[in-house]
Amino acid sequence: MPKIVTVIGLGYLGATHAVAMAEFGHTVIGIEPDESKLRAFREKKLPFYEPGLELALSKAVDSGKLTFQSAHSETSRNAHAHFICVGTPQSESSYAANTTYIYASGSELAKWMSPESIVVGKSTVPVGTALRLKTEMSESAGFDVDLIWNPEFLREGNALEDSLRPDRVVLGGGTAKGIATLKEIYAPIVKAGTPFVEMDLQTAELVKTAANSFLATKISFINAMAEIAEVSGADTVKLAEAIGLDERIGKHFLKTGIGFGGGCFPKDIRAFISRAEELGVGDALDFLRAVDAVNLRRRQRVVDLLNKEFGTIAEKKIFVLGASFKPNSDDLRDSPAIAVATKLRELGANVFIHDPKAGEQVSILFPELTVVDNLAEGFSMANAVVLATEWDEYKQIDPEVSGTLMAQKVVVDGRNVLDVERWRNAGWKIYALGRSVANEVGGL
Ligand code: UDX
Repeated sequence: MPKIVTVIGLGYLGATHAVAMAEFGHTVIGIEPDESKLRAFREKKLPFYEPGLELALSKAVDSGKLTFQSAHSETSRNAHAHFICVGTPQSESSYAANTTYIYASGSELAKWMSPESIVVGKSTVPVGTALRLKTEMSESAGFDVDLIWNPEFLREGNALEDSLRPDRVVLGGGTAKGIATLKEIYAPIVKAGTPFVEMDLQTAELVKTAANSFLATKISFINAMAEIAEVSGADTVKLAEAIGLDERIGKHFLKTGIGFGGGCFPKDIRAFISRAEELGVGDALDFLRAVDAVNLRRRQRVVDLLNKEFGTIAEKKIFVLGASFKPNSDDLRDSPAIAVATKLRELGANVFIHDPKAGEQVSILFPELTVVDNLAEGFSMANAVVLATEWDEYKQIDPEVSGTLMAQKVVVDGRNVLDVERWRNAGWKIYALGRSVANEVGGL
């Protein structure tokens, strides 16, 4: 039976969830205080790029199932469920997550929700947040708020698919009645035979942070191996292939390169470190500091390589391919590509940057970087090229053709997606991160 739901906060998570809930047939009210975002959604336009989502948004709005409001209204009293999807960014002055929006949305919701409805938390929060939220909301609402923590594992670039067909659903806390309501709302996911794992609130909060920490650790593990490989003549692409065939290790998240970025991994591992310290067990997560440090060293590695290649990169023209933190997204939050470009710029290089989707945003947010719309134009100006984000169109670049545009043919493959032999045969000097074998042994 279709339900009425509100989705509070329409960032990547909330916007995708709202569209997914409408696709499941529910009546969805998306709540977003930012007027410009709200206008965009009402005009069926996504304020960010996410493959397939704008079309699905448009269908949901046209069907009348998805509407938008800047705040709760009487309609919220009739809702069966309220999904909290607000952001928890890194605090400005510390590693801690800023949970202000969580508590603020909870206290506002407590004024509008009915005692029969459920509250479902989907944001990534420090362990302990949900319990405090439940207590505060119950006190202010005057009844026991039925709160379920249901972390979201969607990946940008694959967000809608991950929401419609997740590989597992984690449900923390909640009454039996509340859990039953949520399972009705998620009926297509239940029907697909997806595992539902039920637990308490704290464990559900931890599942999300633990999953992200584990994945970030895998990436930094292979990038730590890259540091060894680069000075010993080994090749981490082969190494990852070989260790990944051990099913206890698995082949995923072992791609060597300039490391992870985005709105999740960096801030989530730091928030986890901060929370563990607050709980008096900071030592338990010492390894995550190393994970963060390895990751940040990868960005510096590109700068060091180019400095070594040219003696100094001051005045050199560097063409950076890709700005977003991963392909199929225009998200620039903590993007390794932007970090490298900015470092190069600070050292006096002239930096040109291309991105299939994020160009306009780069010119607004990073005016010191010159955005180039045309690949050939970028190549023709450059002394060296850095492939920083593995968009498909960069994998298809013909090294013969692009090479004719350059006097000096130097490329740093920051994502290990170029065919080293092919580029080398076309006369390029190619540096592939974590692959001394692809370069000259010890010559990185
Ligand atoms: C991640 C989690 O995957 C998702 O479950 C969670 O809900 C949010 O955080 P996302 O940030 O969208 O999703 O991207 P993901 O595909 O996990 O990649 C994160 C970063 O790691 C990217 O910068 C990517 O380039 C990098 N990465 C990934 C590597 O450097 N090597 C790899 O092997 C895999």
